[in-house]
Amino acid sequence: MSVTSSSTPPAPPRVAVATSAAVPHLDSDGPELLAALARAGVAADVRVWDAPDADWSEYDLVLVRSTWDYTGRRDEFLAWARSVAATSNPADVLEWNTDKHYVLDLERAGVPVVPTLFLEAEAPFAFRVPAGAGEVVVKPAVSAGATDTGRFAVGDAGATELARHLHGRGRTVMVQPYQSGIDAAGETAVLFLGGEFSHVVRKAPLLTGPGVGTPAMGDDVQDRITVTTPTTAQLAVARAALEAVPGGAHQLTYARVDLVPGADGEPLVLELEVSEPSLFLRHAPAGALDRFARSVAAAATGRVAVRA
Ligand SMILES: Nc1ncnc2c1ncn2[C@@H]1O[C@H](COP(=O)(O)OP(=O)(O)O)[C@@H](O)[C@H]1O
Ligand SMILES: [Mg+2]
Repeated sequence: MSVTSSSTPPAPPRVAVATSAAVPHLDSDGPELLAALARAGVAADVRVWDAPDADWSEYDLVLVRSTWDYTGRRDEFLAWARSVAATSNPADVLEWNTDKHYVLDLERAGVPVVPTLFLEAEAPFAFRVPAGAGEVVVKPAVSAGATDTGRFAVGDAGATELARHLHGRGRTVMVQPYQSGIDAAGETAVLFLGGEFSHVVRKAPLLTGPGVGTPAMGDDVQDRITVTTPTTAQLAVARAALEAVPGGAHQLTYARVDLVPGADGEPLVLELEVSEPSLFLRHAPAGALDRFARSVAAAATGRVAVRA
């Protein structure tokens, strides 16, 4: 039931765009995003997710963006996401997606993924290497921006050392074969906005030599980005990954699927990002950006209607 009278224009939906203290004004996508939200009739404020003084009750919806510092305190982040009126994407999706164990769900759903061994935080330390790997990648299961991520030749003590270091800090460790196809082809990021395919960018490889790479967040990777077009196989794998999200693809306001060529050249999912992905909005077609903003407005308005 609406409480607005015919003479009173409906209040614009109020959306907090959530970021982290390190990027308090969003990354370089910020101006495009805020302009599109304004065009869609959304009253948007940028807010740092863990700011002690933020009043989240003012907002109909929280659009999760550059909240990249959650990785060391995921429980706190998820509790915050559940405490606000609603998040986009939904809190259940954030919980599922901020721990890379989700690759096992993708695999079970028949989505081709980079083969992964998990060294569980609770298990005794035992470093194993995927069969047939020439080089391996060691990385934490909860991570963003290639932090604590290393590339090593099989047998290099550095791999075991990094794994032991992470495991010793209570973290689950992932070990994957280094997908050398990325060296020439790069990583293909397939972007979906407002529930539909939007655009594709190629990201240059980050682990260009042995050892732990330099972390790269948001804008750090923008200069390694080129617009490209997907192959039919890449699009199909990306769509299959979205369909495997618990609760379905329809609830996703934004999504990014990162693909690398496998040993046979066919696309494998390296990462499905439906939590806080860089969306490379400067490369999005204008229509897709506006569709995205309208879908944010619709999600926020839904909350208004529920409350009225
Ligand atoms: N198995 C792999 N083979 C090749 N490159 C990898 C592999 N795993 C990670 N990388 C490189 O490390 C980067 C970060 O790893 P990723 O799995 O995307 O985690 P996140 O981006 O969440 O830190 C990737 O963008 C890619 O350049
Ligand atoms: Mg990544």
